[in-house]
Formats: sequence, structure tokens, C-alpha cells
Amino acid sequence: MIAVKTPGSEKEWDAYYDLRYRILREPLGKERGSERNEGDQTGIHFALYENDVLIAVARLDCVHETICQVRFVAVESHLQGKGYGRRIMTAVENEALKRGYHKLILHARDYALPFYEKLGYILVGPSYKLFDMLQHFEMFKVLA
Ligand SMILES: CC(C)(COP(=O)(O)OP(=O)(O)OC[C@H]1O[C@@H](n2cnc3c(N)ncnc32)[C@H](O)[C@@H]1OP(=O)(O)O)[C@@H](O)C(=O)NCCC(=O)NCCS
Repeated sequence: MIAVKTPGSEKEWDAYYDLRYRILREPLGKERGSERNEGDQTGIHFALYENDVLIAVARLDCVHETICQVRFVAVESHLQGKGYGRRIMTAVENEALKRGYHKLILHARDYALPFYEKLGYILVGPSYKLFDMLQHFEMFKVLA
């Protein structure tokens, strides 16, 4: 059974940040702790579980009156390409809509661009370089 929720127990939070670290920071040679930032205090956290096993994570930051930003989207490496990314993004978009937000923005890594385009995100253009090494691209989607 698939469920998307905010982690609850300490064990679930540890697994959440561990997945974020292994998928998004470790491949860049970054140390543990680099996967967290101050936005974790205020962000809305999504964790996708299949039969209670964590598979994907995402965070939604609603810091603007009408726009939210999706951040730290990651799927367990051996389970990528099986629809879990789409599934957690749908949950993120539904939650944003439920809260009255109608536009999502994000900064995608170059290799994630086709994934977000498939989900209906529009490319704005290059934005920042993470750690001076990984080019990101700003994208947006107006939610129905
Ligand atoms: C990017 C990522 C979140 C996508 O999640 P995923 O579970 O692998 O993607 P899905 O299987 O849900 O793919 C959804 C759709 O996008 C397409 N897609 C995904 N990656 C693609 C790619 N690199 N090129 C072309 N299409 C792609 C899939 O074919 C699928 O299309 P379909 O629904 O028509 O079959 C995941 O691969 C990941 O964690 N990558 C490493 C970390 C990362 O890059 N995170 C994003 C940071 S910006």
C-alpha cells in the first residue's frame, strides 16, 4: 500500500533526511548535515511509503502569498523511473491547491528537467549553480 504523509516518529525523520542526503548530497561529495537547511522548520514535508518503506521525499515551501516552491525532491535510487516521483509530486500539488496556492515554482537539476516537463512544468531558464557545480533551471506550473 502506498501512502504519502509527513514523517512522524524520530525513526521516520531520520530515514527522511537520510534519503535526502544519499540521493541529493552524497553524490556531490557533500558531508552529512548539508541536506538540511533552515527552511526545514517551516516547510511542509512529504514522505512516500510503500508498505511502510520510505521511497521518496519532497518539501514544499510556501513563503509567498500565492506561490510555493518545491524543494528536495528525491526518489530512492534503485526505484527511480517507476512512477514514484510523479506520485509524490501529485501529492505536493494537491496539498498546495488545498491550501489555496495556485502556482508552484522549482529549481531543477539539468537531468531532472525532462521529468518536470513531463509533469507540466514550464522552463523559465537557468537559475543558480548549486555548490558552484550543478546548474539549476527555474520552472513553474500553474495548478488547475
Ligand atoms: C528526478 C526524480 C525525482 C524523478 O522521479 P522518478 O520516480 O524517477 O520519475 P517517474 O518514474 O515518476 O517519472 C515520471 C515521468 O517522467 C518521465 N521521466 C523521468 N525522468 C526522465 C528523464 N530523465 N528523461 C525523460 N523522461 C523522464 C518518466 O518516463 C515518466 O513518464 P511517464 O509517466 O509518461 O511514464 C528521481 O529520478 C530522482 O530522485 N532523481 C535523483 C534526484 C533528483 O534529480 N531530484 C530532483 C532534484 S531537482
